[in-house]
Amino acid sequence: MKPHSAAIREHAPGARRGLASGAPAALLTLLADGAEWSGSALANALGVTRAAVWKQIGQLRALGATVHAAAGRGYRLDAPIERLDPARIAAAVSPEQRAHVGAIDVHWQIDSTSSELVRTAATATVPRACLAEIQTAGRGRRGRVWQMPIGGGIAVSFLRRFDGGMATLAGLSLIAGIAVMHALADVNVSGVALKWPNDVVADGKKLGGILVELGGDALGPCHAVIGIGVNVRVGSGAPIDQPWTDLAALHAGELPSRNLVAGRILSRLAEALEIFAARGFPAFEREYAKHDALLGREIAVSMRDQTWMGTAQGVTSRGALVVTRGKERLEIDSGEVSVRRVEPRIARRA
Ligand code: BTN
Repeated sequence: MKPHSAAIREHAPGARRGLASGAPAALLTLLADGAEWSGSALANALGVTRAAVWKQIGQLRALGATVHAAAGRGYRLDAPIERLDPARIAAAVSPEQRAHVGAIDVHWQIDSTSSELVRTAATATVPRACLAEIQTAGRGRRGRVWQMPIGGGIAVSFLRRFDGGMATLAGLSLIAGIAVMHALADVNVSGVALKWPNDVVADGKKLGGILVELGGDALGPCHAVIGIGVNVRVGSGAPIDQPWTDLAALHAGELPSRNLVAGRILSRLAEALEIFAARGFPAFEREYAKHDALLGREIAVSMRDQTWMGTAQGVTSRGALVVTRGKERLEIDSGEVSVRRVEPRIARRA
């Protein structure tokens, strides 16, 4: 594919369709370093009244930020937050991948970074990346909601065209998982594995998820929007309906920079997609097997209101999951399937 020239853009609050006006982006930037600010210092810096500061603190809390307010002292965040910055994200992309990543758009607030790219897929210059501090309607696989507290995760989507038709794109979510794993290794986060078809896991818990959406011709020009969510510092009150972990829990020492992680994800993804476009999933089969969290495990497979047990035996050259059930060997395409690892029973003493 011919690379396009790159552009980076930051979309300020209220600057475009779908953004809440008066969103407290500037307030978050001031509080981001984790230092304590008095109400009057914030009011002065923002050019608003103290009552307006209080209102915006409430808005930040509603977006999932933990803001401590000490009587007579001031406000501070629970932990510092690094605001997304398109220039810093672009700087983390390897020079040889810069043109393959293309434009990088960072939004303060949007419904969903993937929805934005799906909406513009037909007309947009590609490749293109879209990130947001806040997703008001973040989407997960199988119609689930994807939520992250403000500053506590990375929400990034990537749009790329392919020439050979949607039928050639099987295995794409597995490749995106490999790219995320490499990106995390780049920032010294190790012990990450992949749970078919779209989970990035560590310590058996979900660290991130991938949502692939395809459009265009089955056999001709088509595009993929690859949406990736990574938990950075989620906090205890997160509404996540399964065991989860985050980079703060995994990274011994200082938390890796969000901009660095986002840039490495885009870089590794663009690199993997170039190889995928030329050679397909077989080029990644062995690598996937090395990091397959399900391989050889007992699993519960749920599809169409039925759940059955089997043993995961790896993936095919098209990225389908191979499961044995007794003497039966089944190949499962991702579709509407959910797969859960079944923990071996621990024998109890009488
Ligand atoms: C899953 O695990 O179910 C997939 C989660 C994918 C979440 C990401 S966050 C960026 C992009 N925008 C969305 O609305 N969803 C994806």
